[in-house]
Amino acid sequence: MKTLVVFYSRSGTTKRVAQELAEALGADIDEVIDKKSRKGILGILRAGYDATREKTTEIEFTKDPSEYDFVIVGSPVWNRRVTPAIRTYLLQNRGKIKAAAFFATCMGNSGKCLDQMEELYGDKAVLKKTLVKKELEKGIKELQEELKALMAT
Ligand SMILES: Cc1cc2nc3c(=O)[nH]c(=O)nc-3n(C[C@H](O)[C@H](O)[C@H](O)COP(=O)(O)O)c2cc1C
Repeated sequence: MKTLVVFYSRSGTTKRVAQELAEALGADIDEVIDKKSRKGILGILRAGYDATREKTTEIEFTKDPSEYDFVIVGSPVWNRRVTPAIRTYLLQNRGKIKAAAFFATCMGNSGKCLDQMEELYGDKAVLKKTLVKKELEKGIKELQEELKALMAT
């Protein structure tokens, strides 16, 4: 099964999860770049505001998800919501993703992030999972196992 792991990451946590998943599943990986600066206090404040206001942003990515059988998309949680970068990615690629799984990394409350991702995708995801930062190792292992089991069926 040709699989793609897509992620946005501001500070590296979601990137680490995506990299470990891609390695374990033998999948390709694609990083979504947010062209808007999310650095510093102002960047963080704007990040939360933009997520709450359900804003889109300017993004860059390189791989075409329609070339894959299965696409796994990861986002950090911002103000209990999906990030503008992944919101934009899912909107731009609506109808191009054949089967999707979503994961979100957070400090403890993922709110409606995963439901928003599913809504933006426009179809039911085969799997939705929250990974809490303080139990990241455990979350990565569980997610790898759950995805492997799904991909074997
Ligand atoms: C603007 C902003 C808002 C956040 N809001 C939440 C939140 O609502 N709930 C939560 O559990 N963590 C929240 N976090 C923490 C991040 O979701 C968490 O640290 C995530 O793993 C970061 O991923 P990254 O390192 O890939 O950017 C927030 C972080 C930022 C910068």
